Amino acid sequence: MQLEGKRAIITGAATGIGAVTAQMFAREGASVVVADINEESGQRTVEEIRDQGGAAHFVRTDVSNENDVEALIKQGTDALGGLDILFNNAGAQRSGPITEFDQTQWDLLMAVNPRSCFFGVKHAVPVLRAQGGGSIINMASLAAVKGGAGLTAYAASKGAIVAFTKALAPELAPHGIRVNCVCPGWIDTPFNRPAIDYMGGPEEQERVVKKIVPMGRQGKPEEIAPIVVYLASDGSSYMTGQALVVDGGVY
Ligand SMILES: NC(=O)c1ccc[n+]([C@@H]2O[C@H](COP(=O)([O-])OP(=O)(O)OC[C@H]3O[C@@H](n4cnc5c(N)ncnc54)[C@H](O)[C@@H]3O)[C@@H](O)[C@H]2O)c1
Repeated sequence: MQLEGKRAIITGAATGIGAVTAQMFAREGASVVVADINEESGQRTVEEIRDQGGAAHFVRTDVSNENDVEALIKQGTDALGGLDILFNNAGAQRSGPITEFDQTQWDLLMAVNPRSCFFGVKHAVPVLRAQGGGSIINMASLAAVKGGAGLTAYAASKGAIVAFTKALAPELAPHGIRVNCVCPGWIDTPFNRPAIDYMGGPEEQERVVKKIVPMGRQGKPEEIAPIVVYLASDGSSYMTGQALVVDGGVY
């Protein structure tokens, strides 16, 4: 019970890494607000947590919209009776050669990836500060530190999250708020479909993964969630401003 009594908001928790993390948070004793643009799957995450005896609520949120995020922090804090943890996990991916990339795709990645972290932090910090502290975890990516062909806009958007995290950590440390980010490598969720299409399909992706990942396989959401639990918990109480790479040994 590493998160006993903690109150957490997790964005992008309808599916994939966010959903698995929300379930693990609940098993570790946290009450959780699941925020996502995908209402049907978000409600399913909540029901699964409740079926296992956990406490969860759903708030429909488009993280690229500041009004939505402000309302999420307010409603989430009211529902949970306070806030200890914010996991800015929602994300979007588009892949393609730089010369064929258009501004709409670039702007979408910047809005859903780093800008959403800015909105979440901006509105959560007053609550966390008033309570005397908390833990913020931002979802970055291996692409932020390593790059990757066809991933220029995605890498730039996630690199911004790493830099944002590193600038925030000293700013918020005096208030007892820790800020870290996670940089997963290839994790097996439908999220990578644009990158897989760019690479030439699932078989080619499988071949590349075997070649570049020393462990020879993709990771699973269940292998990222414990890292987020650790960063959210008091086990990492002296740690802030870090970008933890979890990638089967690539980097
Ligand atoms: N899968 C990987 O290989 C991988 C690697 C590194 C980083 N990540 C990051 O992990 C995070 C979760 O990805 P995942 O692999 O679990 O994929 P996923 O597609 O299962 O999860 C992404 C979630 O974000 C939600 N979302 C998208 N746009 C949104 C918006 N505007 N407002 C609210 N919610 C929105 C989606 O509905 C979905 O539930 C992302 O930030 C992604 O960049 C994934």
